[in-house]
Amino acid sequence: MTDLLSAARAVRENAHAPYSRFKVGAAIRTASGAVHVGCNVENVAYPEGTCAEAGAIAAMVAAGETAIAEVAVIADCPDPVPPCGGCRQKLAEFADPGVKVTLATTDGAVIETSVGALLPGAFASGHMVRA
Ligand code: THU
Repeated sequence: MTDLLSAARAVRENAHAPYSRFKVGAAIRTASGAVHVGCNVENVAYPEGTCAEAGAIAAMVAAGETAIAEVAVIADCPDPVPPCGGCRQKLAEFADPGVKVTLATTDGAVIETSVGALLPGAFASGHMVRA
């Protein structure tokens, strides 16, 4: 089985981050066992950049899959990189609250958390039943 963190570490090298200089790699394992990866892709028009997690999710959906089984994210920072708020919501779209998320630094610090712990009280389709 592919080591998810190794996949995230490898794809991080491809990040396009000339503005922040902060390269991020993300890897998602799906229910089928497939691994999809993404890196952050920045743009000179800064808000147009995309996060590593968003890239991995896009690759997963493009491959025809929608059920996240596990996630790993890595960056070069003092503490394991926390996904931004928007990416927490994006992960929650395709992952149950119990899905394991491994957050890591390039120098070896790792914490394990879950999609539910990253986004307690997530807005979900059940909130729209009266719409
Ligand atoms: N970034 C990610 O790719 N994922 C995260 O979870 C945190 C932030 C990227 C976005 C931007 O390219 C750079 O890191 C600095 O914010």
